[in-house]
Amino acid sequence: MIRLPDERHETRAADPLRVAILGCGNVGAEVARRLLEREDVRLTRVLVRDVHRPRPVGRALLTRSIEELLDSQPDAIIELLGGVEPARCHVEAAVRRGVHVVTANKSIIARHGQALHDLAARCGARLLCEASVGAGTPILAALDQLRGDRITAIRGIVNGTCNFILTRMETAGCTLDEALREAQRLGYAEPDPTADLTGRDSAEKLCVLAQRAGWGWIHPDAVKVQGITTITAEDVRSARRQRCVIRLIAEAERHTDGAVRLCVGPCFVPVAHGLASVTGCGNAFEIEAQLAGRIHLQGPGAGPRCTASAVISDLLALASPRREAAPKAHASPRRAATSRTTALRRHYIRADATTGGPDPGALLHCIERSGINVDSLELRPGRAVLHTMPVTFDAASGLAESLAEGEPDRCLVAPLVE
Ligand code: HSE
Repeated sequence: MIRLPDERHETRAADPLRVAILGCGNVGAEVARRLLEREDVRLTRVLVRDVHRPRPVGRALLTRSIEELLDSQPDAIIELLGGVEPARCHVEAAVRRGVHVVTANKSIIARHGQALHDLAARCGARLLCEASVGAGTPILAALDQLRGDRITAIRGIVNGTCNFILTRMETAGCTLDEALREAQRLGYAEPDPTADLTGRDSAEKLCVLAQRAGWGWIHPDAVKVQGITTITAEDVRSARRQRCVIRLIAEAERHTDGAVRLCVGPCFVPVAHGLASVTGCGNAFEIEAQLAGRIHLQGPGAGPRCTASAVISDLLALASPRREAAPKAHASPRRAATSRTTALRRHYIRADATTGGPDPGALLHCIERSGINVDSLELRPGRAVLHTMPVTFDAASGLAESLAEGEPDRCLVAPLVE
């Protein structure tokens, strides 16, 4: 049984909490530094790939071996490796020994959360993951607190790297690559930023949110995802002309028949909308609940300091009685619907045909054939930029793809958020 001092009452526990950290990158190093300052925690080992690199902890604490780390008899491990393997395997090994786990790893929670939670329950261990979504913004705690209500929708900005890139493209006029390099320097991006840019990181976080909303376990592959890689400076300028900004929005809705729809993609957000004011690595969440109504939560969503806040708070929560919602024992994985949304919305479409592609007349013919009503239209040889009247996402992306001669990388389809 772990006992920790309650800071507010300034009592002291007899024994500090024994903690081992897996990973000592940007976040791991920040967490290690903070824990070394605490008297109520003792670091037992830190798992790293290279024990010779300078770290904030002494060489004696570094190990490359998970067995050696677990043999140091931690009460809890903090998993900050990211990615699925070997993180999942190490978490499982810890839980089997009854060691509690705190993790910031959305990939393992989204993909293996149910199995890991079940195993933890059988082994008398706890698995806490507040930092896996929203970093230091306590969105999972907020969803837990709504367990007596019925959550019907969650919408928001859940990837700090993409939001940082989009706002830098807007305000500093830099390219996507330049803004990405800056995000990497600041420690926002994943080691491999592909997951950020393609929207997969957002899809995993959306699955964790849906699970916490009590909607069951949904695999990230069931989420309809579009990333930000095709967004150009011209798209950003087009948005500005419409008094909008572009944001990567994750949306989850639960229909009355229990069907769940999850999607991630770029949207045009009017500047007066709350989500437009979320800049830099910020995250923002809108929760709709039957009784509580619409709730907003906003804060930094990526970076070592805010992630360390959630990780250390989870660690201290191990000392208090369980407050996190127990995962539903028999919640069956639901198939999310395959279209991005059935709602009728105005859409921005920018489509580039290959060099020397169709002339404006041919593009116009293609638009007319689609039967989609167009609000404004700009045609140049090989390029169409248009705003549609309300249509489904599938109809808008069908038109975009045919204008771009079947190449999705050459177009952007962004619904307008109302
Ligand atoms: N790469 C992630 C992001 C880190 O940018 O949101 C926090 O999960």
